[in-house]
Amino acid sequence: MAKLLILFAHPVFEKSRIHKRMVNHTRHLEHVYFHDLYETYPDLDIDINREQQLLLEHDIIIWQHPFYWYSAPAMIKQWQDLVLEHNWAYGANGKMLTGKRIFNALSCGGSLEAYSQTGRNRFSIRQFLTPFEQTATLCNMHYMPPFVVHGTHKMSEADIELHAVQYLQLLISLVHNRISEDEYQSVNYLNDLLPVPEQVKS
Ligand SMILES: Cc1cc2nc3c(=O)[nH]c(=O)nc-3n(C[C@H](O)[C@H](O)[C@H](O)COP(=O)(O)O)c2cc1C
Repeated sequence: MAKLLILFAHPVFEKSRIHKRMVNHTRHLEHVYFHDLYETYPDLDIDINREQQLLLEHDIIIWQHPFYWYSAPAMIKQWQDLVLEHNWAYGANGKMLTGKRIFNALSCGGSLEAYSQTGRNRFSIRQFLTPFEQTATLCNMHYMPPFVVHGTHKMSEADIELHAVQYLQLLISLVHNRISEDEYQSVNYLNDLLPVPEQVKS
């Protein structure tokens, strides 16, 4: 069994539609530690020792957040800036995170087509996530493809539910080590490894 740590950052969680459902489906899963960063640190005053200890205790880390201005909400950046210390996470003597896996689980207003060379956002989600990927790589971690929920603005309640169920299936597969490195390296999004519920296909 793998131990999962969800680093959750949503500054207005009370207004959330997508993440509220994703969290409701997954927060009580066994072997998954749900950590709400804005709730824990409303003043952005992060307890570095506690965060580093949590990282050491888990195998797979998830940055779960809405996509804000082509990136994550400020809390995720604050967490990276403070927790991923030199000679702890990276640098000649910084090997504490070696071998752990990490990925983003995000929702965004834009469609998949909007995140293409000819779309309005001009770049793909994977391109926008390059700083996350390289941060993970510098810290000797394996960066996995993201789990992405596109088109949130026009999403029906039924589709929100289906994506939340897909996210639940993903976390269960990860806990049970059912997704190999070869498999996740072969896809653009982790969603591509999961069965697509019928309503989402059409
Ligand atoms: C401040 C802010 C910035 C946003 N930036 C983006 C963005 O860059 N790209 C995008 O596709 N959607 C963007 N959105 C839309 C959110 O990603 C979307 O509303 C959210 O993922 C929905 O999830 P929720 O219901 O859990 O809040 C932004 C929304 C806000 C409030």
